Amino acid sequence: MEKMKLKLLYSDLKSDIDIIERELEKAVDSSSYLINDASLHLLQAGGKRIRPIFVLLGAKFGDYDIEKMKDVAVPLELIHMASLVHDDVIDDSDMRRGRPTVKSQWNNRVAMYTGDFIFARALEYITKLEDPLVHQILARTMVEIVNGEVIQIEDKFRLDQGLKDYFRRIKRKTALLISSSCELGAVAAGVDAKTVRHLKRFGYFVGMSFQIIDDVLDIMATDKELGKPAGSDLLQGNITLPILLLKDDPEMQPYLVKVFAGTLTEAERQNMLQYVRKSHAIEQANRMSDKYLKKALQEIDALPKHPVKKKLRDVALFMGKRKF
Ligand code: IPE
Ligand code: IPE
Ligand code: MG
Ligand code: MG
Repeated sequence: MEKMKLKLLYSDLKSDIDIIERELEKAVDSSSYLINDASLHLLQAGGKRIRPIFVLLGAKFGDYDIEKMKDVAVPLELIHMASLVHDDVIDDSDMRRGRPTVKSQWNNRVAMYTGDFIFARALEYITKLEDPLVHQILARTMVEIVNGEVIQIEDKFRLDQGLKDYFRRIKRKTALLISSSCELGAVAAGVDAKTVRHLKRFGYFVGMSFQIIDDVLDIMATDKELGKPAGSDLLQGNITLPILLLKDDPEMQPYLVKVFAGTLTEAERQNMLQYVRKSHAIEQANRMSDKYLKKALQEIDALPKHPVKKKLRDVALFMGKRKF
């Protein structure tokens, strides 16, 4: 159902997305069967392809040429994919996009090389665009994603963190890549600086909202919808926004103690999820996500008149209400 809605939303970009899909398959082609298999395994599991979509939508404000845009869209999706392969090692996750992760189907070592390979391919693609500004933005973004993931490791199982730490983390690990997608599509299409600035800010706000929703979904959605067990974040030690909002709640304490000690039973996981789901924290987190979404929509308002603005708004709203 949700996937249908997404397809509908992308329908007028379908032929361009197909071009990008084919290019992505080519991009992960490797002379090593193992790396080829592992990369294709993740690629073919699908995914929302939200970063390429934002590249294309940003580019619509300028000289839109899909042949050029694919050289921007492909590396952005590749960077995302590579970071997922590595993220699943860090988070020790067994499922992704409804399939076993690379680290679980193969092992951590294969995941490491697969991620590195996909990152390297991204770099290869982006150099097709001979604009140092584009390279700079992309390199900066990659550095920040890694920073975000490292901070996430450092902040694991730490309850002495505040909202500021959380927002700092999600800005780096998620929002900046989405922001850069909007920005780079526009830059490559020769869009004026002011419009680029609004698109970049739009992407940042959407990205913040997007990660908050991801963190809420980890608790609210079913195991099937998620393609992994609900509550995985906390079980892995990632203190996300809803949990952070409940960290001093007396009824939550016994669960947290057990999670941290690694002694939470399956029945207790269910009870804990029930408790968090009904708590004020979910509503509060959703409100915070909406606040970012609203800011994103304000950036759209500031963009020059163009039919693609409606699409940008629809995609942003879908992401704010998504179930997967
Ligand atoms: C997952 O990103 C990781 C986050 C940054 C939340 P997506 O939700 O875009 O993952 P796919 O590509 O659709 O699987
Ligand atoms: C996003 O964080 C990971 C990256 C941006 C690399 P999560 O850890 O929340 O992503 P999922 O939930 O595993 O997709
Ligand atoms: Mg993860
Ligand atoms: Mg998550």
